Amino acid sequence: MNPVSFFPENIKKALGKPAPGAWMPTIPPACIRLSSGYPEPSLIPVGPLQQATEQLLVEEKDLPLHYIGSPRTERLYTFIQERMAQRGMTASRHELLITAGASQALDLIARILLDEEALVVMEAPTYMEAIEIFRNYTDQLLSVPIDGEGLQTEVLEALLQKRSREGKPLPQLLYLIPTFQNPTGTSMSTKRRHHVLQLALTYNFLILEDDAYGELAFGARPTSLKAMDTENRVLYVGSLSKVIAPGLRIGWMAGDAAFIKAAAWFKKDLEHPYSQALIMTLLENVSYEAHLKKLQNRYEQKCRVLQTALQEAFGEQASWYVPGGGYFLWLHVPGIDAQAKLADALKAGVSYIPGEHFFLRQEEGKEYVRLSFSMEDEAAIVTGVQRLKSVLLD
Ligand SMILES: Cc1ncc(COP(=O)(O)O)c(C=O)c1O
Repeated sequence: MNPVSFFPENIKKALGKPAPGAWMPTIPPACIRLSSGYPEPSLIPVGPLQQATEQLLVEEKDLPLHYIGSPRTERLYTFIQERMAQRGMTASRHELLITAGASQALDLIARILLDEEALVVMEAPTYMEAIEIFRNYTDQLLSVPIDGEGLQTEVLEALLQKRSREGKPLPQLLYLIPTFQNPTGTSMSTKRRHHVLQLALTYNFLILEDDAYGELAFGARPTSLKAMDTENRVLYVGSLSKVIAPGLRIGWMAGDAAFIKAAAWFKKDLEHPYSQALIMTLLENVSYEAHLKKLQNRYEQKCRVLQTALQEAFGEQASWYVPGGGYFLWLHVPGIDAQAKLADALKAGVSYIPGEHFFLRQEEGKEYVRLSFSMEDEAAIVTGVQRLKSVLLD
């Protein structure tokens, strides 16, 4: 038997591409991980989760362990609605779907909206897993550069005008991480947010707003595209991974009821009721606002430490956008080949993600490095930067 012969053509094609994450070498255990977009271990509320586990099972017994699950799932929907409302976004119950992390929401959105002909426009650079997800559905991907104010909407407009003039297909979807972007830490300016919403109307496309880091503001938090959208063209994706715990896999999507209905259709029983009930029990017991404040302060502090260390180590030989929130800093070191230097960096005891993996055209990312300040503590960040300097400026 030839197992491969059973795959349909679209799956064969997807499997012919590099495996997700295959480029990443194993990170030696003692390495300082400036590569990982993980929360700081001490900020994961292990104690309160242990207590919530006990409480949930005492109060509800087997209930959250069934397919239907706990009444707390509905309360989680309400919690998300209230949280969105505090940030100026409305989503009725029919306009909201809890998913297994933001990742499942991205995959479901791709699944319901994209076929092989569909064109998706993304930022350059963008979240590498999103590139992988969209590539499973279509090869028609284009990117538009960002700068310190996020997506360059003038460049997007020029692209749309040109395609429209030439009678070429227009995008179905624009994928954006407009707030505390992965990998650059930048946010779109208000002016560009208005502009992109207007372009979506003029050229009739949908916007997928990935707000995985939107809660982690160090200062002012930009208004989300979803909150500014009067036409229901924005499909909003949120996540509790970066603020509570990624292993619980709690994310959501919010948008027009027709899209939510279609996504729920394909999600069907791929639910995770226990996780939903557990996180809701936790949220009943702790102040989400206070927890968030703690995270914001901690990540802001570590971001500052990283920047000071970079300034001291690299001086004029590197530059970066100052992150307004989130987990990441995007380092530009002119003249380097970040991918080629990775093996030496791992030997020196520091990991990072070479910029090329965040681009559709990989060569654009050669001189860039994504550094995460989320996981390691201050002392490790400082040591990590010294190691980085010895490798990148060698
Ligand atoms: C921009 C962005 N979107 C989505 C995700 C996935 O989040 P989740 O853990 O909720 O699936 C990540 C995780 O790194 C991310 O950086």
